[in-house]
Amino acid sequence: MKIYKEKAKIYDQFIKATGKNYSQEADLITEIKEKKIGKRKIKILDIGSGTGGHALELKKKGFEVFCGDINKEMLDIAKNKTSLPCICMDMKKFSLPKKMDIITCMYNTIMYNQNIGELKMTGKSCYNNLNNGGLFIIQVTNPEKIKNIKESITEWDIDEGKIVHMNIVKYPKLIHYFIIIDFKNKDCIIDKHENTIFPVKVIVNSLNKVGFKNIEVLNKGIYTYFICQK
Ligand SMILES: C[S@@+](CC[C@H](N)C(=O)[O-])C[C@H]1O[C@@H](n2cnc3c(N)ncnc32)[C@H](O)[C@@H]1O
Repeated sequence: MKIYKEKAKIYDQFIKATGKNYSQEADLITEIKEKKIGKRKIKILDIGSGTGGHALELKKKGFEVFCGDINKEMLDIAKNKTSLPCICMDMKKFSLPKKMDIITCMYNTIMYNQNIGELKMTGKSCYNNLNNGGLFIIQVTNPEKIKNIKESITEWDIDEGKIVHMNIVKYPKLIHYFIIIDFKNKDCIIDKHENTIFPVKVIVNSLNKVGFKNIEVLNKGIYTYFICQK
């Protein structure tokens, strides 16, 4: 996970190059919150928060926001950028001193669970750390669409460098390679990530099994959202 560790500093440049719109996605989370929880003030934890892109936009909405990530290097950037509380944690096993009203798990972070057992551990940890009626919201690239990619290569320009991102699908695994080229220091790093493609019904069944009810599946653009209530 070099892109989340020694290369964490280039993560925001990479995201900017991809055109990901954190503000629009925070609007959607706010819409869901108002529909399901109402207008009251709430606490939100973003697990796999990375450098705090969603957290910053959610803070602007007036929510009490917390960032959680397994990589300290990502949290250091999030802390600097958002001034929010940042918790180094593994999504599969965490316990907070106070329960949350919403836990979000955005941008394919859920795919870092390697199998259904780990997916359920993450679901259970989130369930245990939510207030009754609280929401667990997951964003994942539409699993049906990823499944059908055999290979894809995309190239992104970053400051004084390039990132070449290669996806290889060996269903149910999605292997990513990030080739990070630094022109200035004449350096090149290859970073391999192994993700799991969970079909929609596997995510719904796993989260039902750990106790969530009223699981809604929402397709929006390239993403599928799971809105799960405790
Ligand atoms: C694709 S990035 C998404 C980051 C952020 N949500 C965003 O939208 O920019 C995945 C993030 O998940 C984190 N991560 C991976 N495994 C994790 C785990 N077991 N527990 C918590 N965070 C994890 C990585 O460190 C990384 O920041």
